[in-house]
Amino acid sequence: MVVYLVGAGPGDPDLVTLKAIKALKKANVVVYDRLANEEILKYADGAEFIYVGKKAGEHYKKQEEINQILVDEGKKHDVVVRLKGGDPFVFGRGGEEMLALLEERILVEFIPGVTSAVGVPTSVGLPVTHRSVATSLTIVTGHEDPTKSQKQVKWNFNADTIIILMGIGMLEENTREIMRYKDPKTPVCVIERGTTANQKIITGTLEDIAQKNIEPPALVVVGHVVDVFKEAREKEVSL
Ligand SMILES: C[S@@+](CC[C@H](N)C(=O)[O-])C[C@H]1O[C@@H](n2cnc3c(N)ncnc32)[C@H](O)[C@@H]1O
Repeated sequence: MVVYLVGAGPGDPDLVTLKAIKALKKANVVVYDRLANEEILKYADGAEFIYVGKKAGEHYKKQEEINQILVDEGKKHDVVVRLKGGDPFVFGRGGEEMLALLEERILVEFIPGVTSAVGVPTSVGLPVTHRSVATSLTIVTGHEDPTKSQKQVKWNFNADTIIILMGIGMLEENTREIMRYKDPKTPVCVIERGTTANQKIITGTLEDIAQKNIEPPALVVVGHVVDVFKEAREKEVSL
């Protein structure tokens, strides 16, 4: 018995790794939540599918319930795939699932995925680092667990580029916090549903981006790398 923690990538089914496809092909069970593209499930032909994400009118399954499903399925079957959007260990709670499985002496293997945090900016030609512009990068959640007794995110990052995941609902609050440490004119790029047919790109600055019409899921890139992206787009239109 083995449970594979597998990254499904950011949405485009062509961004799934060969290793993920090989694991899906031998899976007895696939446990998955809301994926940007369910087309990936076709590789697990003949497997049982267990959906643990949100459905209209239903609540999210609690993480403890998902852990228990993985443990139960892991004990029953030879190969279980736990499929997650992006990379399982980048804001994917894969670490909690790994520990719960190991606690029950179930073997766990890891298959990284293209994380949206880097893969989505790259897919539109937005370099997250760029010589002389950005030599460091921070990836942060824009929506910290509200049940935490103390906030861990302080927003006083030194990194040249800040990438915010799960940040659309709190964009106004988060940009206000960042403006305490960075110039309000710092460029910002938001990418909605990156790498999918419904992708949308919105640009602005720290002081005006929250006023724009943005729908989740989306990620926010803050920093002068956004100028590099804009320069490239200008060059592209003149090709
Ligand atoms: C719970 S986190 C999971 C991240 C995932 N594990 C990863 O590595 O990409 C979900 C957040 O990732 C970002 N995200 C995931 N897929 C995206 C996409 N295709 N386009 C833009 N943002 C995306 C959004 O900020 C979304 O709120």
